Amino acid sequence: MNNIQRKVVIVGAGAVGATYAYALSQSGLAEEIVLIDKNEDLVKGQVLDLLHGQPFIPTVKIRAGSSEDYTDARMIVITAGAAQKPGETRLQLLQKNAGIVKSISREIVEKKSEGLILVVTNPVDIMTYVAIKETGWDRHRILGSGTVLDSARFRHLLSQHCGVDVHNVHAYILGEHGDSEFAAWSLTNIAGMQMDQYCPLCNNCIDWKSVRKNIEQNVRKSAYHIIDAKGSTHFAVGLALVRITASILRTQNSVLTVSVLLDGEFGLSDVYLSVPSIISDKGVVKIMSTSLLPVELRLLEKSATILKEAINSLTSEQ
Ligand code: NAI
Repeated sequence: MNNIQRKVVIVGAGAVGATYAYALSQSGLAEEIVLIDKNEDLVKGQVLDLLHGQPFIPTVKIRAGSSEDYTDARMIVITAGAAQKPGETRLQLLQKNAGIVKSISREIVEKKSEGLILVVTNPVDIMTYVAIKETGWDRHRILGSGTVLDSARFRHLLSQHCGVDVHNVHAYILGEHGDSEFAAWSLTNIAGMQMDQYCPLCNNCIDWKSVRKNIEQNVRKSAYHIIDAKGSTHFAVGLALVRITASILRTQNSVLTVSVLLDGEFGLSDVYLSVPSIISDKGVVKIMSTSLLPVELRLLEKSATILKEAINSLTSEQ
């Protein structure tokens, strides 16, 4: 055990894992970044490529590792798995990736890790559920990247449409990280003004109701559009992962729409879903029981039903 306090282990050195490592290395957040992949040549190449950038970034150790590194990792970030193919839904990835996440989780337990697990592999809500079932850990220690990325896409589109700096647009996508996700319009605001107040005052669109629908639809389809165009999505998710990492390593108590295990919140249990939660050095320290509109609650329930059905299909086939 080498007692490195800010050691981040990334399992899966493909497009997402490597982009996250690249962004993380520049952030100054981690003391050590360890990459693991079943493809040893790939890890070797990624590590060398990252190391050659060291003169230009804050001091950080970067190396290839093994499961031994789980023991003293502060965070283990799982990006290992097959990526979404053009036209493939995240749920279709389910069976392929569940086996991978299960075996990684088993090794993490064997190595007596005391860190946190952040799952990114898709379908992320179900993979995070697989990880908690396999480890038996407390729910605050295992989270999924959830809709942090989707909320960023939502904020970007609103910012473009409204002509307002993205940092002043507060907006959340909730539910499944996938086709049943939805925009929580009741929580969306610009300069503290809810959209129902803001839209009628703004002259940027004539039919703001249909604009909203288009924006929400665009967020939902973003991953498909990018995958069709270039094969995978990795830049924005890499940054979203750095944002979550910052909240953990710096105890920022940030409100992020990570995927969390619900246990009665919003009347739902035994399912991982994205809702606004406070993220700190202990992981998920608080799930915000935000008041949602009845229509939004129904959409959250719909996501939960879809994910539970997928989980059931998984357990019955394994
Ligand atoms: P990729 O194919 O480029 O990389 C995956 C890597 O995992 C490969 O290098 C592969 O060798 C490795 N791997 C597979 N099994 C392994 C095992 N048992 N142990 C160690 N390494 C293993 O795929 P990409 O594009 O990096 O995507 C990774 C995952 O992240 C996919 O499931 C993808 O759908 C998901 N993703 C999630 C997002 C989110 O917001 N949650 C956004 C974008 C992608």
